[in-house]
Amino acid sequence: MSGFKLVGIAGSFNRPSKTLALVRHIAERANIRYGFTTETYDLHDVGPSLGGALWRRDLDEQARRVIEEIVQADALIIGSPTYKGSYPGLFKHLIDLIDPHELRGKPIIITATGGGDRHALMVEHQLRPLFGFFMSHTLPTAIYASDRDFAEYAVSSDPLLSRINEVIGELAAFFPGANPALAAAE
Ligand SMILES: Cc1cc2nc3c(=O)[nH]c(=O)nc-3n(C[C@H](O)[C@H](O)[C@H](O)COP(=O)(O)O)c2cc1C
Repeated sequence: MSGFKLVGIAGSFNRPSKTLALVRHIAERANIRYGFTTETYDLHDVGPSLGGALWRRDLDEQARRVIEEIVQADALIIGSPTYKGSYPGLFKHLIDLIDPHELRGKPIIITATGGGDRHALMVEHQLRPLFGFFMSHTLPTAIYASDRDFAEYAVSSDPLLSRINEVIGELAAFFPGANPALAAAE
């Protein structure tokens, strides 16, 4: 293990969820390549207190723990389903409860899923500026996957796998101490 922790959060309530499947797939690749410890969550894991919370202190223990994991992570994978061309409101509300300085400088892999390709630029037009506000380091390769990139809620298309490989490679710049032997053994 490298000693670094990668946390993935999928802004979906659905189970099974393509967004969570994508986030988990990327987390597994990062674990294999760099030995990162990984943890992934979805909005079910955050739980019902999110909707009624105006401030972080209004959240229950379960939701607060997920936010703590997000802000303590060495790197993040953000995954959002596309709703009406953007991220779901409840996902944004979760992000709204994070203070601006808490994600500053954090490497973030931005990903989204959608029904088709029409909103593929959602990652660039919605997610990248959102984390630009936090002064995070969103990685250059953003991942968008549509229904046809999945089979039975598992990542299945070659173009998607190739983009995932690309972004996994981009993480190396942030973690020069991550175990290169693991990368070589792949
Ligand atoms: C309320 C709602 C709005 C949606 N709007 C869009 C959309 O604007 N563009 C799109 O490509 N897909 C849209 N979809 C489809 C979802 O983005 C897509 O099925 C996504 O992969 C679901 O992710 P999940 O399986 O993680 O929940 C919408 C779905 C719902 C429920």
